[in-house]
Amino acid sequence: MVRGKFITFEGIDGAGKTTQIEALHRFLLDHGIEVVRTREPGGTPLGEKIRAMLLNDEMDVTAETLLFFASRAQHIRDVILPALERGAWVLSDRFTDATYAYQVGAKGYEAEYVLQLEAIVQKGFQPNKTVLFDLDPQTAARRLALSRTADRFETQDCDFFTRVRKAYLARAAASPERFFVLDAGQTPEAITAQLLDEAKGWL
Ligand code: TYD
Repeated sequence: MVRGKFITFEGIDGAGKTTQIEALHRFLLDHGIEVVRTREPGGTPLGEKIRAMLLNDEMDVTAETLLFFASRAQHIRDVILPALERGAWVLSDRFTDATYAYQVGAKGYEAEYVLQLEAIVQKGFQPNKTVLFDLDPQTAARRLALSRTADRFETQDCDFFTRVRKAYLARAAASPERFFVLDAGQTPEAITAQLLDEAKGWL
């Protein structure tokens, strides 16, 4: 029996997810909830090795998609499900919506194949809620340039992130009961206030 809640965070690179995940983490702790924070790709020792390959090595998009799902399979079995079963809430920086946005939306990989992989790996398992940080790619690129050196995904051009953004918004429109879309162009304080207000309804 799954008792906790699985919350995922999505958006183009540079949308400011990390700060907001931290804010929600503290909010849930204040409400006496055990929280497990994790990320994809990664989240397990095997997943972190896969992450290093994904972020650094040039590869075929099929290989890439399979590696994201390989990392995800291990993550669900070793981290996400055990935490949910003991009543913890799991906050994951990215999950399967990212595969639809980046591999399908931006790189043109077949959605049908991702649907099949999702069925094999998740067997119907889905996030309870997904927070989408929506931001125009120009603003995101400016923020990233200020903050760090780019990985393989972050060096893509604005057209690429425009496609990622569009795919995320289409996913949100198709599942409005699961998605909470935030305008990530606001100040961090304003975004936090809206996120925590929404999260009160999840308790
Ligand atoms: P992320 O952890 O958000 O990067 P960072 O720590 O640098 O902010 O994600 C790494 C990259 O992987 C990001 O550009 C999005 C990409 N990605 C996909 O293309 N498909 C996926 O299924 C996932 C989970 C991530």
